Amino acid sequence: MSDAIKVGFVPLSAAVRGIMVVFCDDSLKLGPATAKALGGATELVKRAASAAAFKGKSGAALDILAPEGVKATRLIVIGAGKAVDLKASDFLKFGGVAASKLAAGAAAMTIMAELPNGAMTSEQAIAIASGLRLRTYKFDRYKTKKKDGEEDGSRADISLAVGDAAAAKKAFASAGAIVDGVIIARDLVNEPPNVLFPEEFARRAGLLRKLGVKIEVLDVKAMDKLGMGALLGVGQGSARPSRTVIMRWDGGKKGEAPVAFVGKGVCFDTGGISIKPAGSMEDMKGDMGGAACVVGLMHALAARKAKANVVGAIGLVENMPDGNAQRPGDIVTSMSGQTIEIINTDAEGRLVLADVLWYVAKKTKPKFMVDLATLTGAIVVALGTEHAGMFSNNDELAERLLAAGIESGEKVWRLPLGPEYDKLIDSQFADMKNTGGRHGGSITAAQFLQRFVDGTPWAHLDIAGTAMGAPKTDINQSWGSGYGVRLLDRLVADHYERK
Ligand code: BES
Ligand code: MN
Ligand code: ZN
Repeated sequence: MSDAIKVGFVPLSAAVRGIMVVFCDDSLKLGPATAKALGGATELVKRAASAAAFKGKSGAALDILAPEGVKATRLIVIGAGKAVDLKASDFLKFGGVAASKLAAGAAAMTIMAELPNGAMTSEQAIAIASGLRLRTYKFDRYKTKKKDGEEDGSRADISLAVGDAAAAKKAFASAGAIVDGVIIARDLVNEPPNVLFPEEFARRAGLLRKLGVKIEVLDVKAMDKLGMGALLGVGQGSARPSRTVIMRWDGGKKGEAPVAFVGKGVCFDTGGISIKPAGSMEDMKGDMGGAACVVGLMHALAARKAKANVVGAIGLVENMPDGNAQRPGDIVTSMSGQTIEIINTDAEGRLVLADVLWYVAKKTKPKFMVDLATLTGAIVVALGTEHAGMFSNNDELAERLLAAGIESGEKVWRLPLGPEYDKLIDSQFADMKNTGGRHGGSITAAQFLQRFVDGTPWAHLDIAGTAMGAPKTDINQSWGSGYGVRLLDRLVADHYERK
């Protein structure tokens, strides 16, 4: 893994090493074990809080240097707000805030996993550990020099002081699998496009074999035979051949229908012949954020041995201008048999997904499909970077995703579908065209996808605003966010796993 943070578990009564992190509520109340460990220093906390106008607001931090009478180099007090109805995402945030206090080269930190009303549950304490790892992640494999003063606590030795160290250790394995999945997704999004092209992406997805995931790779010949003309049309201008990868994790009942996740994997999107302007075009190395999420999710599920049958499928292409590239005006035939008039070669993601969605619907007959795609600039205009856009033909699935979003902090916001939007993609020459005009661009893109789900319960997540380039947060300092791995792991865990 690309992070090296070490987390161990000790009882709440253990001796403190290095930086001490404690929690208080918005009346500055501390937990009993915490107050005991601080002894006379609790008064100092009150004075420092008042001097710094620290009110225990959720996620706020008070930093006190080497308090007298406490065996710690620094004391960090983190606010837990009202300290009631706290969600998994709150504890992740606490971990992230704690990690931000690891100065360069900090050797050790002890975190008292206790709220004013007593020890945190194992799940809550573990979420803090996950937050620490997510925060300290850094993509620096192409940096040959290290800058002074850069936040770097990634080598620190962390002790999490918990109520039940054995239970926490057990829960840590599953939580660690999920964090590893997020980090895999971030790495894939951050990689430069000269390194991560379709074949290399497929090779990296293939590394999941080690965890017992079954991997099938469709090359151009195989996709041609299946009639995947929509996907292949996008890749035909590239010197790098396209691939589709199907991953299967069979952790559920034998023969039970799987749940399926489908990702857009445009390893680089120049726009093709409808070429994009030069400004920020480099960001289009992240146009495979959907596929990255699916690989990260499959890792998480397999590594924690999720009791569910899961299919992950990713369409991998590079969208380039070339003598052999597809043109506006071309008509392609998708695997479904439906024909598509290409109006704009930059609306390529939906063409890739059309064939992969159809393939998954027909070949695996899933309970549902969720696709993720950095599909439209319009979704960034509509929702910014806080919510992914969600479109669905199934209210139950949509509600479950909404709830998983709130709990995980990877939020989604539902937008409408409907026949009035659908007719905007009718074409005068083919069954449909690949763009629907200027209005409602994210919606007409979703309508296009819906024509390829064959009635399967389905949700589409437009992650163009959340997968990359979003503002840094308490738990993510990286350009590629790994958005969606925690959201979908949660969805599976809450509703689709055998108990
Ligand atoms: N990959 C882009 C969407 C995108 C834009 C993702 C910005 C992340 C940040 C997609 O392939 C695209 O080019 N969409 C076009 C569609 C249009 C041509 C109908 C867009 O959004 O402009
Ligand atoms: Mn495009
Ligand atoms: Zn794209």
